Amino acid sequence: MDGKRILLIVGGGVAAYKALELVRLLKKAGLGVRAILTRAGERFVTPMSLAALSQEPVRTDLFDLGAEAEMGHIELSRWADLVVVAPATADLMGKAAGGLADDLASTTLLATDKAVLAAPAMNVRMWLHPAVRRNVETLAAGGWRFVGPDEGEMACGEYGPGRMAEPAAIFAAIQDLLARNLPPLPLEAAGGKPSPAAAKPAAPSGDGPLRGRHLLVTAGPTLEPIDPVRVLTNRSSGKQGYAVAAALARLGARVTLVSGPTALETPPGVTRVEVETALEMDEACRCALPADAAVMVAAVADWRPESASELKVKKTGGGATVRLVENPDILAGLSKPGPKRPKLVVGFAAETHNVAAFAAEKLKKKGCDWIVANDVSEADGKSGVFGRDENHVALVTRDGVEPWEAVSKTEVAEELARRIADALKG
Ligand code: C5P
Repeated sequence: MDGKRILLIVGGGVAAYKALELVRLLKKAGLGVRAILTRAGERFVTPMSLAALSQEPVRTDLFDLGAEAEMGHIELSRWADLVVVAPATADLMGKAAGGLADDLASTTLLATDKAVLAAPAMNVRMWLHPAVRRNVETLAAGGWRFVGPDEGEMACGEYGPGRMAEPAAIFAAIQDLLARNLPPLPLEAAGGKPSPAAAKPAAPSGDGPLRGRHLLVTAGPTLEPIDPVRVLTNRSSGKQGYAVAAALARLGARVTLVSGPTALETPPGVTRVEVETALEMDEACRCALPADAAVMVAAVADWRPESASELKVKKTGGGATVRLVENPDILAGLSKPGPKRPKLVVGFAAETHNVAAFAAEKLKKKGCDWIVANDVSEADGKSGVFGRDENHVALVTRDGVEPWEAVSKTEVAEELARRIADALKG
């Protein structure tokens, strides 16, 4: 990371103060940081604070002749290894999604050929507004990455998703993106139509039967915070989901892998989007659409604490009660009929008994096309399926139940990838 360069665009929101801490973290890690502060951003933090922390001049104006002479805005947009927008306001993202360029920040975002990471921050109603949803989807389809927003109490007194991710989380996302040596943002193909290969970042397609197809895969556990140090989670290792993503990429698909925390390497040719909570996974999946097929392998926590404490909960000598609320069912959501529904939606179901019957019931309840039913009983004397390399599965479709020979998670993934390629051919 040392020596890499970040262009930080600070938009106008209360969360702008957190951008100062982000600059401090980046400088401490040895990165070069130059900042652009929007006019609205100047209402929340001063150019002086950003300049002092970044030890570089701060740009605020597109038509600043002196600053332009030192480093033109186009040069600035190419100088960085990564462009970070924090806070990414509804206005900044709207302009970027619409291709507007009426100030230095929006012009730079349009001119850059580097990967962009955005940390959105806005009021919950704004974040959930269809216009903002559309803009975020457009930007994600154009290759932007997102970190947050978090859910919680907001400066305006409302509660919900919209708080900017904490500086440490943005820093971690930057570290991860820099480590992955992201390719430049894709450009639209000549003729005005986005080229299918450029519509989403990365993942070079091979020559296999899934060439030109976009596959969405979820994997791993989710972490549901109780307080800053404690989480609710499960034992999923992510191995099966990663094996599926790898097998699909080997068949030539462009794969977006939305993953909860795991210790696994990103398979070659796969674009990984890291999330922690079920709400983040749900949103990342929706941002990744459209997809030709989706394979939901993640062990999504069914519940999350109703609210995560900002401060560590202290022991009081007695018990404690955590009130849980249900998480969205990502698989069921993606399976709902509509223009964005992938042609093929596949779920996984871990059962300890009546495996096929429960899986068939799940197929109906969730509205997906196939279920890979997974026997997680300990009947074989081993400690269940978690973390192991083997898996015993049956494919459940509307036509019936088909037990598979495949035993290793890689073999299950390869067989599933072959079936998906066949189904999409039709
Ligand atoms: O209901 P159950 O958790 O057994 O369903 C498992 C399937 O549903 C898996 O494919 C899992 O990835 C998916 N799922 C989901 N969102 C949830 C719960 C499960 O996508 N909240």
